[in-house]
Amino acid sequence: VKLEKKSGKVYLDFNATTPIQAELKSALPEVLEVWGNPSSIHWAGQQAKTLLRDARISIANSLGVSPLELIFTSGGSEGNNTVLRGVFEKTRGLARSEFITTNIEHPSVLKTLSHLKDLGAVVHQIGVSKTGELDWEHLSRVLGERTALVSMMLANNETGLILPLKKVTEMAHAVGALVHTDAVQAFGKIPVNLAELGVDYASISAHKFYALKGSGVLFAKKGSDIKPLIYGGGQERSRRGGTENVIGIWAMGFMTSQFSNLSERADRVRALRDQMESEILKTIPQTRVTHADRERLPNTSNLILEGVDGETLLMSLDVKGFAVSTGAACSSGNPEPSPILLAMGLTRPEAQSSLRVSIGWTTTEEEINSFISTLQQVATRLRNLHQRNEPTFQEVTT
Ligand SMILES: Cc1ncc(COP(=O)(O)O)c(C=O)c1O
Repeated sequence: VKLEKKSGKVYLDFNATTPIQAELKSALPEVLEVWGNPSSIHWAGQQAKTLLRDARISIANSLGVSPLELIFTSGGSEGNNTVLRGVFEKTRGLARSEFITTNIEHPSVLKTLSHLKDLGAVVHQIGVSKTGELDWEHLSRVLGERTALVSMMLANNETGLILPLKKVTEMAHAVGALVHTDAVQAFGKIPVNLAELGVDYASISAHKFYALKGSGVLFAKKGSDIKPLIYGGGQERSRRGGTENVIGIWAMGFMTSQFSNLSERADRVRALRDQMESEILKTIPQTRVTHADRERLPNTSNLILEGVDGETLLMSLDVKGFAVSTGAACSSGNPEPSPILLAMGLTRPEAQSSLRVSIGWTTTEEEINSFISTLQQVATRLRNLHQRNEPTFQEVTT
């Protein structure tokens, strides 16, 4: 493969995925010497098994749970699918079989639930407003003895909004319902203690915290039922068949062993993000930040630049070397505005003029400063074109 040189490029899309941490990259070659099947009894298998065990302990510590409560998966989508489909299968036809979720979840939750709806599931979707408020009235109305599972993300990928998971968990448990959280965006950005949150199930994904793609963890609280999505060998105590992704799992352990200084890292990232937002709001007129007054992930900024088409902005910034997003990663190249922003109550023009900037541990002040000055130039140019009704970059290039 021939890779394009990265010099002069600035990556500001850490919610889509993170680069592999430099220290992890340096440590990888040695671990690649371990190739045994962890299920084998012999020495080769034992080496691999040791890597898995150490990683399980490190990840469990970082989540405040016990190692045996973790199931290794291929990532966030698999964790979400396992819980939702498993609960559906177990509760189908019972008095307690309904699902409650929000309308701002990742597609791996919303599309799975929509599939289950086709199979007969009852699903209640609770709204989250433009100001970040959960529709408590709707939740109280539908939560009850018919609820099997509440699935609510800990933090939203597009605006960084942190949802009131602890309170919702207490409400759900009070009526005997189980709680699952998609903690994919939160884990690695803020400290996450699953025992404190009290949830029954949680999904996390390695590639959001500087580890390798294609691996993740599903937390299933001790005593909670979990039906495998993948049947096979007896791996993961028969809760997930398939030979484990040993290197991917080891990499998650490597990263979580550094989480003791996560708060400091988050503080640094937050300071940089806040500095960027205040400079942008001060110097680019008619600009807003979605969910700015809410508790948010420290790294995420969802900007609305009135009168600027987000997709055109994204492409113009890309030409200049800046990688950002207009919402869900899969929306790139698709002119439809982000359905999640629309679900939050943003108008179509607002959603269409949104830009998601998500920064990370390696983002520097210089990168942010050069991004701000490029955004100022590009936004001004696009607004001028828009006012003169001249074709935009997108129209010229497509
Ligand atoms: C909130 C959220 N949940 C789940 C996922 C899916 O995780 P994975 O890519 O590991 O399947 C993502 C990835 O973008 C996400 O942002």
